[in-house]
Amino acid sequence: MEQVEKVIDEKKQGKPLLIEQKEGNAKKLFIESYGCQMNMNDSEIVAAILAEEGFNTTGNIEEADLVLVNTCSIREKAETTVRNRLKKYNAVKKVNPKMKVGVLGCMAERLKAKFLEEEKIVDLVVGPDAYRDLPNLVEEVEAGRDAVNVILSKEETYADVSPVRLNSNGVSAFVSITRGCDNMCTFCVVPFTRGRERSRDPKSIIEEIRSMNDQNFKEITLLGQNVDSYLWYGGGLKKDFKKASEMAQATAVDFAQLLNMCATEFPKMRFRFSTSNPQDMTLDVIHVMAKHKNICKYIHLPIQSGSNRMLKAMNRLHTREEYLELIENIYKIVPEMNLSQDMIAGFCGETEEDHKDTLDLMEKVKYSFGFMFAYSERPGTLAAKKMEDDIPLATKKRRLQEIINLQQEHSLYRAKEHVGKIQEVLIEGTSKKNENEWKGRNTQNTVVVFPKENYKLGDFVNVKIEDCTTATLKGTAVGYSENN
Ligand code: SAH
Ligand code: F3S
Repeated sequence: MEQVEKVIDEKKQGKPLLIEQKEGNAKKLFIESYGCQMNMNDSEIVAAILAEEGFNTTGNIEEADLVLVNTCSIREKAETTVRNRLKKYNAVKKVNPKMKVGVLGCMAERLKAKFLEEEKIVDLVVGPDAYRDLPNLVEEVEAGRDAVNVILSKEETYADVSPVRLNSNGVSAFVSITRGCDNMCTFCVVPFTRGRERSRDPKSIIEEIRSMNDQNFKEITLLGQNVDSYLWYGGGLKKDFKKASEMAQATAVDFAQLLNMCATEFPKMRFRFSTSNPQDMTLDVIHVMAKHKNICKYIHLPIQSGSNRMLKAMNRLHTREEYLELIENIYKIVPEMNLSQDMIAGFCGETEEDHKDTLDLMEKVKYSFGFMFAYSERPGTLAAKKMEDDIPLATKKRRLQEIINLQQEHSLYRAKEHVGKIQEVLIEGTSKKNENEWKGRNTQNTVVVFPKENYKLGDFVNVKIEDCTTATLKGTAVGYSENN
């Protein structure tokens, strides 16, 4: 338990993930996760599967029987981080020769058995759809044989696996609703590493949330590569929906309906979702958001570039004009909505003019937050095959910096809009800077810190916002919110 306490509240990226120990489990699993929230959630699924096989998690790699690293391939840097981590494992193996090492996630899927040749330390390679096979694979490895399963599935959603919540603050949790992606943005490796898009049975989603509610969790983030394209019609791939029976088509559940179901069934819980691709977002979703107080008024709405020429080259199936129109309509329905972006600087063929279009679009939207990256060519993608990665690194970096600087200005502009208001904040933990202050988020996803007084972790509190920096609002509690 001491270990568990220690890692709570630290940034989870690349940190050992721990759970409370299951009695009678003798083997020790050290698992760490890189990349997106979906990977974190997958690691929780993996820990649940292996808990049934006698593994308890440990934060001390030197005592681990099995070391698993859940990997990300989205940019080259993400892969380099994992390779460096594997080098570190080599040193650990000298003091802990019994440990076996497995690679999970997107790099496992991308590199397959090649991993075993390239990284001698690796004994086990498991892709994102093959975690159910881990008990067999681990048995192979324990018998001294290497094991690989990178088969992608048309059905797997791990609907019936209850993830164990690793490093949880006990307040907010992630629930996966779709897996894979069918969008084929030309720069993106995800469709290759995570396979075709499939949605999870809404019943199993509601049941998982019910169990989180019973455990006193207060906030759920519904996760998918592309949540707005969620569609349940009895199982199978999204692309096969048209072939489904009339009955299945008539009773299908889309994302707006799923969101409505969740918010109605659990009125005391907060709901968030991520990520939305603008081309798949319907105003139905926005109307559902307007209808329910417990759906947070925040959308992560990546566009990647403000230039129509670039959007086309990226196979993003909308124009900047359509995107701006969508945002205008969103504000008409939910005026207090906050938006964030992902941007890629220096995609193939990007001119200064295209880059200016990105800055100009940002000026028009003034996002609250942003996640910004220099383009990184990924093997196997359409861009890698058909387009030249022709923007010099220095230019990519300069453009990226200009985008980041502008986003900083906009984040401050948006943060200031909250000052003077009283906002509901869910307490998620102690502020990193001051242990006498709580940290939480308002509905728009902006971090708020305020003096602790007698409030507790997991309380919904009304906070008067008095001041701000670019990323954080500061305030004072004025009482419990009606949701408490
Ligand atoms: N729909 C996904 C997007 C996954 S990738 C989600 O749920 O988040 C996250 C972000 O990484 C993308 O929006 C894009 O901005 C960035 N990205 C993806 N591929 C990239 C590449 N090859 N180079 C640089 N950035 C990339
Ligand atoms: Fe990647 Fe585009 Fe899907 S960014 S995850 S292919 S929506």
